[in-house]
Amino acid sequence: MGNDPVKKASASDVNKEMKIARDLDKDPGFELLKRVITRNTGFNCEHYKEAHFRRRINVRVRATNSENYEAYLKLLKRDPQEYESLIEALTVNVSEFFRNPETFSIIEKEIIPYIVKYRSESLIRSIRIWSAGCAAGEEAYSLAILLHRVLKTDINNYRIRIIGTDIDTQCLEKAKKGIYHENSLKNLDPNIKERYFLKQGDSYQIIDKLKSLMQFKRHDLISGSRNSHFDLIICRNVMIYFKKEIQEQLQFNFYQSLEKGGFFVIGKSETLLGAASSLFRPYNTRERLYVKEISRDIYGRDRELQEFK
Ligand SMILES: C[S@@+](CC[C@H](N)C(=O)[O-])C[C@H]1O[C@@H](n2cnc3c(N)ncnc32)[C@H](O)[C@@H]1O
Repeated sequence: MGNDPVKKASASDVNKEMKIARDLDKDPGFELLKRVITRNTGFNCEHYKEAHFRRRINVRVRATNSENYEAYLKLLKRDPQEYESLIEALTVNVSEFFRNPETFSIIEKEIIPYIVKYRSESLIRSIRIWSAGCAAGEEAYSLAILLHRVLKTDINNYRIRIIGTDIDTQCLEKAKKGIYHENSLKNLDPNIKERYFLKQGDSYQIIDKLKSLMQFKRHDLISGSRNSHFDLIICRNVMIYFKKEIQEQLQFNFYQSLEKGGFFVIGKSETLLGAASSLFRPYNTRERLYVKEISRDIYGRDRELQEFK
């Protein structure tokens, strides 16, 4: 056993990896590398939590067999294509349809019916939803499916816009195509799969009816322009990578981007911080659903909200 060459090789690989990680921790080239990445990609490294950022960069340093940050920088200069792989590593695009299904169940049974009822009484029957940090569109399309299920044929009587934004353009291209592998559809009820997707070999294509509700565009949450007038904003598993002060600022921005009485959804391991924690009213704390405080005297909507719970 002690002479097993495979085991010996993997143990030495692990030791090598640990040594590289230790050396990288002390490597003074990190600051310069961050500056170059920010300058050349527009991806502002200073806003992200340092430990997270370092871990993600190290993935590429190791994958390219670069000895240190300086060697990796030289590689980036020689081979600008490496920036694409780097951005992919930095952005963490993991997502799936109906991620955290319990959250979507409340959105379907309580929040969308509330928004629809409110909008059905207003002059312009428009519904605006923003999936911020939408990755390849799984979250945004999940919301489109729910709207379609709630409104049924009445959907044509509303002006609906579901905006999916992300900093990663490759992901957005995927979102626009709306073609997914079975893996990302694992939370889907077979009826939904059949109704809203066309099977193409191993992949599933979103139907055009849903695509027509969507708009996908590149937007950097930190430096991008302000979007507004939303009935629902969902920003999950994005802010968690940012430094605390940036999270606070973003949550306040989201508050301002919502209509009065609009809903805000964050990730299950995220919390409201700073001003947002007193401005938003909890709607369902376990599912991290919040509502923008409204004036009860004028709209009486606070009371109505209870009907949907
Ligand atoms: C883990 S995914 C979350 C996807 C989806 N919201 C979910 O919960 O399944 C995080 C996404 O945030 C995006 N992101 C990271 N920094 C961003 C920024 N500054 N502005 C906009 N999107 C950003 C990444 O590109 C990535 O697609």
